[in-house]
Amino acid sequence: MKISIIYHSESGNTKKVAKLISEGAKKVEGIETKCMSIDDVDKIFLEQSKIVFFGTPTYAGTYSWQMKKWLDTCKLNFAGKVGCVFATENFVGGGADNAELALISELIVKGMFIHSVGASAGLPYTHFGAVCIKDGTEQQKERVLIFAERVVRNVEKFISA
Ligand SMILES: Cc1cc2nc3c(=O)[nH]c(=O)nc-3n(C[C@H](O)[C@H](O)[C@H](O)COP(=O)(O)O)c2cc1C
Repeated sequence: MKISIIYHSESGNTKKVAKLISEGAKKVEGIETKCMSIDDVDKIFLEQSKIVFFGTPTYAGTYSWQMKKWLDTCKLNFAGKVGCVFATENFVGGGADNAELALISELIVKGMFIHSVGASAGLPYTHFGAVCIKDGTEQQKERVLIFAERVVRNVEKFISA
């Protein structure tokens, strides 16, 4: 299964978390991932991907305007794919949850099936998606790996090919 990880990152934090998403997803056998900045998206790989993770920095308590602009103008078809999110922020309570929910809203409108695993698999819970302060504490990084792996396992388990 192919998995696209699309991110916006100016100072590198979200890009680093994107790499952790890739590492976590690849703990499942047979997974091929591609981390792609919004400036350089492989449209063919994306088209072939069943799951798309979207990563954004938090800007003023929501997702970045660059990610919003890209989503609004990319003219790509995400319908039917599983959409998942992750976000970075500088401060606890800095708005990453809201950034993720706003991003999720856009993905719903694009026809995606949203998944976060939530609390369904026990600790650690991922509420709306993975969140890291900057590029993450060790604990936050571990949660990113588990989140990505669990998403893939659930898609394999619950969603037919
Ligand atoms: C314009 C701007 C607005 C920001 N707003 C917030 C914010 O509301 N809350 C917060 O915790 N961090 C905020 N930050 C910090 C970034 O979310 C944080 O450093 C993020 O990890 C940057 O990601 P990047 O390194 O991938 O670009 C802001 C940064 C910028 C540049």
